[in-house]
Amino acid sequence: MLHKHIGVFVTGGIAAYKVPNLIRMLIKAGHEVQVAMTPAAGAFVTSQTLATVSKHPVLTDEHEFDDPSHVAHVAFAHWMDMALIVPATANTIAKLASGFADNVVTNALLAFNGPKLVVPAMNDQMWLNAQTQANIAHLKSLGMAVLPPATGFLAEGYQAVGRMPEEAVIALFVDTYQPQPTLQGKQVVITAGGTKERIDPVRYIGNDSSGKMGTALANIAAAMGADVELITTANLPTLPQVHVSAVQSASEMQQAVALNFDASDVVIMAAAVADYHVATPSDHKLKKVSEESGLTLELAQNPDILKSIGTAKTHQLVVGFAAETDELLTHAQAKLAKKHADLLVANLVGHGHGFNQDTNAVWLLQPNHEPKQVPEASKLEIAEQILNTIQQKMG
Ligand code: CTP
Repeated sequence: MLHKHIGVFVTGGIAAYKVPNLIRMLIKAGHEVQVAMTPAAGAFVTSQTLATVSKHPVLTDEHEFDDPSHVAHVAFAHWMDMALIVPATANTIAKLASGFADNVVTNALLAFNGPKLVVPAMNDQMWLNAQTQANIAHLKSLGMAVLPPATGFLAEGYQAVGRMPEEAVIALFVDTYQPQPTLQGKQVVITAGGTKERIDPVRYIGNDSSGKMGTALANIAAAMGADVELITTANLPTLPQVHVSAVQSASEMQQAVALNFDASDVVIMAAAVADYHVATPSDHKLKKVSEESGLTLELAQNPDILKSIGTAKTHQLVVGFAAETDELLTHAQAKLAKKHADLLVANLVGHGHGFNQDTNAVWLLQPNHEPKQVPEASKLEIAEQILNTIQQKMG
């Protein structure tokens, strides 16, 4: 992930009180943050708090002309490479849609030509108002990215749409931002995480896969404009436009893939699917038989999901993964052929590699191509490279 200069623009909504926590997350992720705020935002969060967490003075109307050597809102616009408007009120959204420049926030945003990410948060009726919706549509047509508000408990005391998404989701919105919707209109099915094969109601056979790679692929694909179905055993933050199907076992995963297969353009099997399940799982908690004896479980083979869709594909592009502890390329080449995949992503696992890490280093294998090495990078960056390769293959 590239570390950015992020201009955080705080406007006058109650969710402003959560922005200091968001700024801490962005800084922890390696970004540098400077804040500008409207006069109305000051009713919900102080400039001193925002200055302390961002480690920079905050740009306000009151202090705009403190330093006569430069025009503060223009210098601010020059400094940043991404603008994040959070929370964005209906009022500021309307101003942005019309090109107003009547405070430091709207001035700096008008002086900035780079990516603008908007996080609306407001009362449900204000959000659903046709005027606000028309303004939002206009911001999108101007190239701004909009993170839709969540449905949940509003400050008004009832459940409705309008709530600011969790800070982790906003940080994800920043880190997955894509300037071009290169996968617009594509249906992408992605599996993630290790399957859990039940022994009894409280025990299972699992593996070390965290689901981070598959979830990163789902988030980046959604940011590229694809319709994403994420079939997963993991519970990690996703962008609101990712449709998540929670599954546990290989057989549930197979059913969910089958349900989505015909309509899909791409299927990416990033999940670590168990090769076996317990032949007859117990419907009650197994008890120790005696103090001395061991336990033998009979395992039966699971379906090979990748192989079956690789064989059945018509127009779909089928992508597999191979996680190996040794002889990576030899095993991966064999899997590419055996499973009829169009692309295989191979990586080393174990000894601090792969599973449950935030970074990865992979090889991309395609039939009749030399393997291509992708050096160590964050899983979001690896996901971007995999999806760019997929997009090029689709033409
Ligand atoms: N896979 C699958 N169904 C299975 C097992 C694996 O769809 N029952 C998929 C995985 O999602 C991955 C690819 O196949 O995309 C390779 O998984 P891996 O476990 O490395 O392959 P196996 O065929 O199980 O080979 P191994 O003998 O190394 O376990």
